[in-house]
Amino acid sequence: MRSQRILVLMHKTLVPPENLQGYSPRQIEEFRTEYDVVTQLKASGHDVRSLGLGDDLEPLRKAIVEWRPNIAFNLLEEFNGIVSYDQHVVSYLELMQQPYTGCSPRGLLLSRDKALAKKLLCHHQIKTPAFVVLAKGKRISVPKSLCYPLFVKSVSDDASLGISQASLVSNLVKLKERVEFIHHHTGSAALVEEYIVGRELYAAVLGNQQLITYPVWELTHKNRATEKVLIATRRTKGNAGYRKQHGIDSHAAQGLSVTLRSHIDMVSKQIYRALSLTGYARLDFRLGADNQLYVLEANANPCLSADEDFAASAAHAGDDYATLLDKIVKLGLGYKAAWRA
Ligand SMILES: Nc1ncnc2c1ncn2[C@@H]1O[C@H](COP(=O)(O)OP(=O)(O)O)[C@@H](O)[C@H]1O
Ligand SMILES: [Mg+2]
Repeated sequence: MRSQRILVLMHKTLVPPENLQGYSPRQIEEFRTEYDVVTQLKASGHDVRSLGLGDDLEPLRKAIVEWRPNIAFNLLEEFNGIVSYDQHVVSYLELMQQPYTGCSPRGLLLSRDKALAKKLLCHHQIKTPAFVVLAKGKRISVPKSLCYPLFVKSVSDDASLGISQASLVSNLVKLKERVEFIHHHTGSAALVEEYIVGRELYAAVLGNQQLITYPVWELTHKNRATEKVLIATRRTKGNAGYRKQHGIDSHAAQGLSVTLRSHIDMVSKQIYRALSLTGYARLDFRLGADNQLYVLEANANPCLSADEDFAASAAHAGDDYATLLDKIVKLGLGYKAAWRA
């Protein structure tokens, strides 16, 4: 691909250094994605600038007006400490007629609210665990139709915030405790779902109109002595030592029939379209013991570290990191935002 002027947007504390010398593994973990993306885009021959944002859009306006980037590579996950405000920065990019990578404001809005996304998916007859939303300050009760064990999480937070083995509850007392915990610790309403026993599968989707999927990925664990059930908690996702200790690994899903694979691909594309996702996204599924596929959530703009699930699954299909990032840039350049009409 022709060399592009790429403005990489990230949180101001995550602007990566030129090289990793002198940084501890813990420090590197913090800015890993930003470092990987910036380093690869440069290595691919692009003219790359990192822009750290906090609570002020002026530096963004200035960079767009003065440097005229071909594209903004969006790695922002919040604005002014508010996770759901990332979509407003993307709206600002659209208002500035600035092409960007990843998901549109509409897709970010629809996928961020897990309950809203589930309602839309139900309309399309896409299976998702039965659920109820319990708002802060309201009486905690669950419909009789919901069967224990239940799983309690935040309706809008991601990256497994507030998720642990204690999220899985088997009676009303434990449920109330956990709902209050979610209200208190995340400030958001609690989403209570039926717990789906089964395999944990992830599907990576790429595209705007024409969609492609990468091989289905799976999270597994070997050592079940302390972690009785497999739950993708914060530690399970991001702590290398913890993963090693518990034999937790993610890899291409083995032993799925051809029919099941094509069903997962088809459902993934249906979800992507139903939620107006663009650019790239990762869908989290559980394959129930009944062999039914349930979607847990859709992640717009998932993690793009070189060794994370999305890039690993792309590499498994033959798209190395450079190719994956180039594809994401191309999709951003080709996205038909309303201002182009
Ligand atoms: N209904 C459910 N049944 C089984 N496991 C669940 C359910 N909901 C969440 N989990 C577990 O919790 C993890 C995180 O939940 P998820 O909805 O994906 O939130 P996050 O946005 O934090 O990733 C899932 O990957 C899965 O391991
Ligand atoms: Mg998830």
